[in-house]
Amino acid sequence: MIVITNGKGGVGKTSVTTNIGTLLAQADYKVLIVDLDSQGNVANNLGFDETDKDDGGAALHSAAIYGKAPEPIRGIRANLDVLPGGTFTDQLMDAVHGDSLRGGKLKGCVARAIAKIAPEYDIILIDTPPSSAGYVYVEEAMLASRWILAPLRPEPKSIKGLESLADRISRVQSVNPYIQLLGVILFGVPTGATRVEKRPRDILGERLAGIAPTFSAKIRNVVAADADASFRGEAAHELAAEVANQGPFWERLRNGKSSGPTLAGSAGSLAEDYMSLATEIVDHMKSQEEALEAGAN
Ligand SMILES: Nc1ncnc2c1ncn2[C@@H]1O[C@H](COP(=O)(O)OP(=O)(O)OP(=O)(O)O)[C@@H](O)[C@H]1O
Ligand SMILES: [Mg+2]
Repeated sequence: MIVITNGKGGVGKTSVTTNIGTLLAQADYKVLIVDLDSQGNVANNLGFDETDKDDGGAALHSAAIYGKAPEPIRGIRANLDVLPGGTFTDQLMDAVHGDSLRGGKLKGCVARAIAKIAPEYDIILIDTPPSSAGYVYVEEAMLASRWILAPLRPEPKSIKGLESLADRISRVQSVNPYIQLLGVILFGVPTGATRVEKRPRDILGERLAGIAPTFSAKIRNVVAADADASFRGEAAHELAAEVANQGPFWERLRNGKSSGPTLAGSAGSLAEDYMSLATEIVDHMKSQEEALEAGAN
């Protein structure tokens, strides 16, 4: 299980979750995405936010509170199921928090609920809210997980945020000793400005030496493609496939099909970024797991 987190807001947590999730599902992995953010943006990104599939977090809420197996929304894409987030996520976290203040046993209930259905999946991705929403969300996600992926923007403030993430990881390790930082993802990197990227990479390389890599795959800043993908509730590779199908503008004009909006041509580069990232994440996870197994034997 992988949790996608980083103290800061707007660093690409949800975009990474939904894009990597849909890509791995397409590559035949059985994938579950869990949205622990009451903004419910996973449903937006995957295009089911205004449908009756969006339960606002109700399934996870009742399963976690009553100690049952949650029933995810099946088949959001082939091989991809989702436990959505929403107002019920806030209610769940309030309950966990209130209960822990009273010395109750709800802490970790999200992890226990997810664990009940985990054997059905090859990969589970958990999206988390920015830490301003409260630590309890991130902690519940971390208790469930093996790996952490931390996206960040190549800015000093974002890099600083990693320190509080490191603190959190070490606190959670006393309860979940298996959790580790898998890697850092540079998100929203301006195109054609290698200098903007080099400095953060150097700093991260120093700070994370021997801990985790900064993936060489990065997610470029491509506003137009992101806007198209968001409006359509599609992942970048799904949008790129539509762009390829739409044909050149002059052909559509000739065929009388020019009325629809032209989709951003940059979808292809965004899709490529996510494909490289997905490959690197899977390779790194496999090699880490092999190394750990070798160490344990
Ligand atoms: N490749 C991209 N280029 C430019 N903007 C992007 C790109 N991908 C996503 N965005 C936009 O950046 C913003 C932040 O992305 P996202 O929602 O994934 O971050 P987040 O960390 O989940 O945010 P939050 O902390 O609010 O949950 C969104 O408005 C999104 O539409
Ligand atoms: Mg988000």
